Amino acid sequence: MRTLTGIQPSGKLHWGNYFGAMKSMFDLQDKGENFMFIANFHAMTTVRDGAALREQTRDVALDYLACGLDTSKTLMYRQSDVPEVQELAWYLSCLTPMGLLERCHSYKDKLAHGLDATHGLFAYPVLMAADILIMNADMVPVGKDQKQHLEVTRDLAQKFNNAYGEIFKLPDAYIPETVATIPGLDGQKMSKSYRNTIELFEDLKSIKKKVMSIVTDSKGLDEPKVPEGNSIYELYKLFATPGEAAEMADSFRRGGYGYGHAKKALLEAYRRLFDPFREKREALAKDPATLEDILRDGARRAREAAAPVMEKVRIAVGL
Ligand code: ADP
Ligand code: TRP
Repeated sequence: MRTLTGIQPSGKLHWGNYFGAMKSMFDLQDKGENFMFIANFHAMTTVRDGAALREQTRDVALDYLACGLDTSKTLMYRQSDVPEVQELAWYLSCLTPMGLLERCHSYKDKLAHGLDATHGLFAYPVLMAADILIMNADMVPVGKDQKQHLEVTRDLAQKFNNAYGEIFKLPDAYIPETVATIPGLDGQKMSKSYRNTIELFEDLKSIKKKVMSIVTDSKGLDEPKVPEGNSIYELYKLFATPGEAAEMADSFRRGGYGYGHAKKALLEAYRRLFDPFREKREALAKDPATLEDILRDGARRAREAAAPVMEKVRIAVGL
């Protein structure tokens, strides 16, 4: 069983990314074969500054390594280090009906959020299909927003197989229902597009300030409070043990426990988990040569995995 995940280096990773995507990937590391790649080609649909893209790509690698990606269990690579994905995307493009892409919600949503209507953004799902099919992935863990892209991937694999013979496996999306939507500072879904994120590794002062600014209702210290749906409690639950979370819930219900207390507890729980990650990240960041070696080794192994698939594909299409 081969699992593949891609993450766009389109900004700093935040708590929502950690609990919504990274952590479940780390939990899978001991099962089957795992591939994780940094989708820097995809990020070019939004990032137009070369230096920023390069830095953000490195930052994603550092964040994953610091938080628990083990390169002996998970193959990590940069998408651009496997240029064959662009080649495969072209072959798939030639079989992609315009209508299939026109129906993609994500394209329409992005236009609604003010992104430029470029060909790259429109063709994004074809490149994503190439990422997945080139690695013969069986399972692709994604958020709900990416479900349709997996359907496009399966559709394109089927079209390719119908035209040229059985080359591609049809991958399955894996959408963990257990992963909750992590709330941001304002109570909406935490997302960099909403500017309500707490980044994994922003400086501690800024994290403290943000935690203290999490929006709550205006109940006074003595009043009993409902923990469920309260962002501080929902975030605390992610970092705390079940026993600690139950204790906070009881304190809220009993009254005499204020949001300030809970925010302090949240900050401490974040630090308990992330202080060691932060230390590891700082050490890794000081040694760019080692990071580059890790990425080069990933690139070599990823290209090796793609080579036999591309060989079959090129022969099939008539090259
Ligand atoms: P953003 O919304 O900040 O742009 P992305 O769409 O790049 O984040 O998300 C990357 C991954 O992190 C996806 O798998 C997504 O499902 C997950 N993720 C992002 N924000 C959240 C959140 N608030 N709750 C749960 N998962 C999230
Ligand atoms: N589109 C995905 C996202 O925005 C990132 C991505 C690109 C991806 N290629 C992929 C995810 C292949 C899984 C498999 O989150």
